[in-house]
Amino acid sequence: MIETENPASAFAVLASEEPALDWSTDAPRGGRAVMSRILKEKATVPLFFAQTLVQSLRDVGYDHTTSALCEHVDNAIQAGAKEVRVFFRQTGKKGEYRIDAAVYDDGRGMSPAVLKVATSFGGSLNFNNRQGIGRFGMGMKTAALSMSPVMELYSWQEAGAFYNMTLDVEAIGKERANLVALPDPTLLSDLPDEVADLLRRPMSCPTDRTEQLLLAEPDDDLAERLGRSGTIVYMPECDRLTFAKAQTLVDHATKEMARVYRRPIGAGLRLFVNNRRVDASDPTYSMPNARHVKLDIIPKQSRLILAKPVPVRVHENSEETVPIAIKIFRLPIEEWSKLPRKIQRNDLRVFEGNTVSILRNGREVFAGPMTKITTRHSVTYWYRIQIDIPGDLDEAFGISSNKQGVRLKGYVEETIKSAIGEEITRLNDELKRVQAEMAAERAPAKPTTSEAKAAEADPFQRTQALLLTPEEEAQLEENLRGLAVTLRRNNETEDETLERIKASPYVIAFRHDEYWPFYDVQQRFGRVILTLNTAHPFFTLLYEPLSKLGQGVEAGADDAAGVPPPTEQSGPIVALDLVLLSLARTQGRLAGTGEDARKLLDLMRREWSDTLRVQLTT
Ligand SMILES: Nc1ncnc2c1ncn2[C@@H]1O[C@H](COP(=O)(O)OP(=O)(O)O)[C@@H](O)[C@H]1O
Ligand SMILES: [Mg+2]
Repeated sequence: MIETENPASAFAVLASEEPALDWSTDAPRGGRAVMSRILKEKATVPLFFAQTLVQSLRDVGYDHTTSALCEHVDNAIQAGAKEVRVFFRQTGKKGEYRIDAAVYDDGRGMSPAVLKVATSFGGSLNFNNRQGIGRFGMGMKTAALSMSPVMELYSWQEAGAFYNMTLDVEAIGKERANLVALPDPTLLSDLPDEVADLLRRPMSCPTDRTEQLLLAEPDDDLAERLGRSGTIVYMPECDRLTFAKAQTLVDHATKEMARVYRRPIGAGLRLFVNNRRVDASDPTYSMPNARHVKLDIIPKQSRLILAKPVPVRVHENSEETVPIAIKIFRLPIEEWSKLPRKIQRNDLRVFEGNTVSILRNGREVFAGPMTKITTRHSVTYWYRIQIDIPGDLDEAFGISSNKQGVRLKGYVEETIKSAIGEEITRLNDELKRVQAEMAAERAPAKPTTSEAKAAEADPFQRTQALLLTPEEEAQLEENLRGLAVTLRRNNETEDETLERIKASPYVIAFRHDEYWPFYDVQQRFGRVILTLNTAHPFFTLLYEPLSKLGQGVEAGADDAAGVPPPTEQSGPIVALDLVLLSLARTQGRLAGTGEDARKLLDLMRREWSDTLRVQLTT
């Protein structure tokens, strides 16, 4: 019956012989012994081999030390903590720093029985409860071991009675029992000094010690300060961290946690990283008590322009829906884009690209761009979309077990898009118009490079374009003053505008009008006035990107401004301006030769403009 050619039976023959373990030399020795014994004795096989599994679980992916630490902060918040402290203690010399990490909280703590269960993989008191933050009974362990080979837990529900459990990957690897059982928690009346010192001695950073608000002073009674209940997760001698230096770890954790936990912080949670209080950082700028509100800016908040519950199907083919809450906030582009670049960038962080923020049960699980829902245009920096989802939609939003991001199912993206698409389009258009208007305002009160160049070239032109009538000559000053009123940029005084147009016979102006050709030419009082329409695709697809190139800003990149036609332009934008100014000059001159010519030229302008619009947008 058994054919030797059959690979499966060949395997059966092999397996019945002396088992050959091809393990590496640094593999857990206990695990090796257990495995060999089980193979030989055909003993009961445990579902998990603790000795090896615990080591593999060290690699369960956390993309960052901060996201691993967030697992402990999540647990602390779920345990009702009012205060959470994250520590990175750095000791040792440069190049061989030792970093111990820890998270302390004053939540409800764990009884010895709970502590023991919580130490085991899959051990959870919240398993698959989607109301909270935890779900799988893995987070605390995998997160701790992803940083350090040892996880020490201390938890208490009575002052001065600390229960300790420790998971030590190396020790477990040496276990020779087929089934590794956890010991009972150890009761301590004091925390070990190594752990206690985290709470009563300043960290090496922040270097300014006055910034550090310690939990306890060195001669306080620590047990008393630790109060009735709480938990400490201690990860000594971390060997896998994203950064080697405490300072960098602290900075990253502070910045990320400030945003991820903005809701709990806003609701009163005191969160510290290395003894420095973390303020909520709100990418939607809508919270009344977030970091940005302390800046010296007006206005301090964004404006809510849409709030909408949207039903989302739990699964693609399910009838059952659960509502999510979508809000759109418009940033005060008019005021904030006039702030110094440094404040916009470093203090407000407008250009960080956190257009969409998704919060699951009040905890942020995603912040970043979502170009499928918004656009890539630079106006996208000036609004924010906040999506609140319940745990029932974990599958629909592709929330991974370690809450490190989302992967929206296609139908969910479609649902969101059709719910807010129109509003987003309207907003994009409005912001583009505002940008264009402001750009025109920002232009300084003197002719631009291209306006000046066109003027310099005039004496070399074959045709004379700028002849004034004798009356015009006579009252030039007065007429120009009248013209200046219509060409004034908001940041100019009337006199400045007058100076500007007196200095240059060529003037480029901007206007936003959906129904207008892409340019217009007027020739008045010896001035050639070219007006560009910021609503036409000629402007958005060609003029604006080129204009940004001229400022050394990558088109569509993180620049807030639309068109600033700066005085000092360079590159292709100057040439394009000259194409347009020469067109304006020619059209102005020829239109002056008679009514028929004027009509034909105007017809050409309109038809050309429509044709170009169609070509650029289909
Ligand atoms: N800081 C803490 N305070 C109180 N209980 C905690 C704390 N951290 C963890 N626990 C308990 O340990 C259990 C396991 O935690 P974890 O491994 O993160 O899984 P999960 O959060 O998915 O339940 C939790 O269900 C909770 O009961
Ligand atoms: Mg958890």
